[in-house]
Amino acid sequence: MNIDMKEKVAVITGGAGVLGGSISKSLIVEGVKVAVITRSEESLNKATRELSSLGEFLGIQSDVLNIESLKTARAEILQKWGKIDILVNVAGGNMPGATLEKEQTIFDMKIDDFDKVTNLNLNGTIYSCLIFGEAMSKQKEGCIINISSMASISAITRVPGYSVAKSGVDIFTKWLAMEMAMKFGEKIRVNAIAPGFFIGKQNERVLLNEDGTYTDRSLKILAHTPMGRFGDINELNGLIHFLCSEQAGFITGSIIPVDGGFSSFSGI
Ligand SMILES: NC(=O)c1ccc[n+]([C@@H]2O[C@H](COP(=O)([O-])OP(=O)(O)OC[C@H]3O[C@@H](n4cnc5c(N)ncnc54)[C@H](O)[C@@H]3O)[C@@H](O)[C@H]2O)c1
Repeated sequence: MNIDMKEKVAVITGGAGVLGGSISKSLIVEGVKVAVITRSEESLNKATRELSSLGEFLGIQSDVLNIESLKTARAEILQKWGKIDILVNVAGGNMPGATLEKEQTIFDMKIDDFDKVTNLNLNGTIYSCLIFGEAMSKQKEGCIINISSMASISAITRVPGYSVAKSGVDIFTKWLAMEMAMKFGEKIRVNAIAPGFFIGKQNERVLLNEDGTYTDRSLKILAHTPMGRFGDINELNGLIHFLCSEQAGFITGSIIPVDGGFSSFSGI
């Protein structure tokens, strides 16, 4: 399979993070022009340091929850490169305050934190799809990939807000896939990837003990993962490249797990 990505323009929200950084790097080295959207100056500097020497790179400090800042980012990208072919919505993740402690119940959940986590993961994806997807609707061509989670497929203890938001991402992905194909043509495709468990900055507190050994939660996850391991942070990239290519021309509205078998395993 030959996937030629050269000359494409990609927008990666959360492209300075663990998974987003790997996705951005994998695209840029294939000749894709990559615009990374990230919220803080610190993460913008990090992305610039790690990516700018590898190829065509544009770092933009913008907030996926701020429509005006996304519109400014879109204008900057269109002015520089004239089009947007690919959007990967990686910005998101769970938040410590929105994770129930072992002894807590749903009735102890802090509503403010529930609101924050649902807002970032659901609206942060929707707003970005609307702003960058609008450019694709005018071009009548484009590929959007949202990032879902195992938490949208079945109930995972302690993360109610995150689970609700990622389930929302799934149905919005299907909904937007329908809308784009029916109103703007079959060359705009919208899919989601549902990653299994990858150790990153956000979740290492719950997955690793201070001495680097696995927590009880990690051991439960691994026991429920037929491959018996966590994902490597580069293991989403192949699917991203495939979904962006013409070889995936009839795939839209799909939520595709990359999970070492977690979502297909009954547990017995
Ligand atoms: N790590 C995993 O095991 C795992 C599993 C399933 C799904 N995911 C999802 O993958 C995505 C990336 O996860 P990660 O582990 O790489 O996390 P990460 O924290 O390393 O990356 C997230 C990035 O999003 C950015 N961000 C946060 N809020 C933002 C905002 N309002 N505007 C712009 N940027 C913002 C952060 O600065 C960060 O760079 C998330 O959506 C997460 O829910 C991760």
